[in-house]
Amino acid sequence: MPTTISRRHALRAMGLAASTLVTPSLFARQQQRLTAAEIMGPFYPLQRPLDDDSDLTRVSGQPGRALGQAFDLRGRIIDTQGRPVGGAMVEMWQANRHGRYAHKSDPNLTAPIDPAFQGFGKQASDHEGRFRFLTIIPGPYPVIEDNKRWTRTPHIHFDIRGRHDRLVTQIYFKGQALNDTDLLYQALSAQDRDTVTLDLQPADPGAPAPLFGEWTVVLASG
Ligand SMILES: [Fe+2]
Repeated sequence: MPTTISRRHALRAMGLAASTLVTPSLFARQQQRLTAAEIMGPFYPLQRPLDDDSDLTRVSGQPGRALGQAFDLRGRIIDTQGRPVGGAMVEMWQANRHGRYAHKSDPNLTAPIDPAFQGFGKQASDHEGRFRFLTIIPGPYPVIEDNKRWTRTPHIHFDIRGRHDRLVTQIYFKGQALNDTDLLYQALSAQDRDTVTLDLQPADPGAPAPLFGEWTVVLASG
């Protein structure tokens, strides 16, 4: 009997020891959740603006700054193993403060164009997978679809192309009341929403915008 007990103890001890040894490596290999994909939408720019840099709050040759709440978007692209994805091309486009796209098919004609707002930007991620845009929180806009009327909550469209993966998605802003009734946002699971929702925070004095938001983009293999 004592032999059996001690063997059990030994086995249990081995099991514990094994799990203690295994756990950290499991954590190390834990997969990152993929960033949720979304539809492209109808307003990808047909004609790129002459100015397509990473600062959407100014248009070269145009006086003034874009209307709306400016913020600094700090992004990072990784793969599911947490490795940075450098050299990915990041394109983004969005409505202006009034909920209007600089696109000839935008039916929201009562909302004015903001000539100082760029509306589109692109940038390649650096070797650490980082990218950065200075932009504004877009306005909501009406949608009439299949006899249904609803309002799109503020969002920004993205098309991200890595070496192997392409992710088309949209990001949203935590705390926007219209998030609760946006049909596209509500169609995502709660976990998927977390992958595309920015929680804007106050930036340090002297930063390029009073608010910043961090977004980690996870691609399957980069
Ligand atoms: Fe949109």
